[in-house]
Amino acid sequence: MKATDEVIQKMRAAAEVAMKKAYCPYSKFPVGAAVLTEKHEVFAGCNIENASLGLSMCAERNAVFQAVSKGRRKIVALVIVTPTSVPTPPCGACRQVISEFGNQAEVFSFSKDGNVHYFHLNKLLPEAFGSDMLPK
Ligand code: THU
Repeated sequence: MKATDEVIQKMRAAAEVAMKKAYCPYSKFPVGAAVLTEKHEVFAGCNIENASLGLSMCAERNAVFQAVSKGRRKIVALVIVTPTSVPTPPCGACRQVISEFGNQAEVFSFSKDGNVHYFHLNKLLPEAFGSDMLPK
């Protein structure tokens, strides 16, 4: 399934709402994300930091985990929003987690002015490690 412009804008709106809930007192860098499941449902998440900095969690992973927590297992697209002038790609850890549930996902990242960068997950994470590589 290819995400339509209309769906991408719906995801962007959900990610913007989530970004407002970001808990980021240390970095002061709020991020919002929204995923689209194969059944066209949208789940959003924000980054949540911790005083023990390494325990902070990215918006993208929180959005994926929201979907999986509701029993969804297939992600076809992901939208990221940041208050930056240049759209930001997902971090390496998030790429691996997105890959688990959507190794063909389309990723759209929006800047604060609505500039958008498009990435296909298989370009962001070539030669990905996946479940098929585990011994049976
Ligand atoms: N962050 C995300 O939420 N997503 C990314 O892909 C990169 C970084 C968050 C983590 C941390 O709360 C803040 O941005 C600064 O790194």
